[in-house]
Amino acid sequence: MTIELEPFPLPETADSKSLKDFGRVVRGLDPANLTEQEFKEVENLLYQYDALLFKDVKLSPEAQYALTKAFDPLSESYGHGNNAIKDDKRSILHPDLKTIPRVPQVQLIGNGTVYNYEGLAEAKLKHPHHNTFHKTVISAEDEAKGFTRFYRWHIDAALYNHSPPKVTTLYAINIPQGPKQVVKYDDGTEDKLVVPLGTTVCNPAVTTGRNTFDILPPNLKSLAVRSRVRYSPHPYVWMSSAKALPTGLGIVSEDLELPLDKLPPWEESKVKVLPMVWKNPVTGRLHLQVHPCAAGEIFIDPLPAGKDREGALYPNGAHLKDLREVREILYQIQRPGIAPSLIYPHNWNERDLIIFHNRGILHSVVGAFKDSDGVRALHQCNLAASDDPLGPTEEDLESYA
Ligand SMILES: [Fe+2]
Repeated sequence: MTIELEPFPLPETADSKSLKDFGRVVRGLDPANLTEQEFKEVENLLYQYDALLFKDVKLSPEAQYALTKAFDPLSESYGHGNNAIKDDKRSILHPDLKTIPRVPQVQLIGNGTVYNYEGLAEAKLKHPHHNTFHKTVISAEDEAKGFTRFYRWHIDAALYNHSPPKVTTLYAINIPQGPKQVVKYDDGTEDKLVVPLGTTVCNPAVTTGRNTFDILPPNLKSLAVRSRVRYSPHPYVWMSSAKALPTGLGIVSEDLELPLDKLPPWEESKVKVLPMVWKNPVTGRLHLQVHPCAAGEIFIDPLPAGKDREGALYPNGAHLKDLREVREILYQIQRPGIAPSLIYPHNWNERDLIIFHNRGILHSVVGAFKDSDGVRALHQCNLAASDDPLGPTEEDLESYA
């Protein structure tokens, strides 16, 4: 069978030039039954386009786990560790994920209550609403008019003890359709993004990490390739009392993070320090990949010897520990990448399977459901990786530092 590829259907708001290499609909393959050679092709396409969509797929939780694992054969447990979220009720992820008992690497997500489903007698699913996470919220009046927010821009990753998963697979089981909603950025800009309900509300409003890097001015590119981010231990517990910015792209700094001695036991050797920019293993391109809510500190290397970049930031290097400063820099670097023109909101249909390059994009849940919208259910799988992402090479530093 020949594989056919088709570009993702982009919304009017998208800049088709910037997103031309993002996402492909794949036809002519059954992702539940790939030969070794077919899988290799899929793997290459994934790293080339960062997201693949298969339509009308039949996929058991076992097959979804097997497919996800094929991208990293040495990986075994869910991205946060099997059942780790179920067992830590303080984690902000706790309400969003229900583990499928038979295949604990696969989570059931969505909205509404399902009964006798895949070994779960009753599962109450709750689509994350920005009013549980943001410092300021859309008024009830505006929400009734269809305005909404991005929830939280993120990479799927524990960012403590476990390495960030290489891919995430999302498989749509039940998708109620509904009216479009309008995402307001509310960050001092008038930016807005129209998103279809059945679409957005679900994951992923995807923006490509590589665009985020490509569009930066030279001084921020230089800073990004010289930087490593230290994530807080147990970041989702650490941030559990803090509130997010209106864009969902980071946390408001008001010293509400839990003190380190109030966190579950942790050790320095399990803390993650990751490059700010991750190298695509197939294309060699650089993806700016930071989980802005979980970041705690930034280590910046000095400019390479002999480099004299005009306007260079921190030319002698630095170790930034002040959360306000860390977050301001990250916002400056990451906000351009979530411009409405760079976002792909996926319009979900039942039996859609999306595989996305979790080390190459940020994504966010969007929107809000009413009870009357009906049950929404998806299966999500990602696996703690067998290695950490690689940063820029010597050649990249030569080009950008
Ligand atoms: Fe996610």
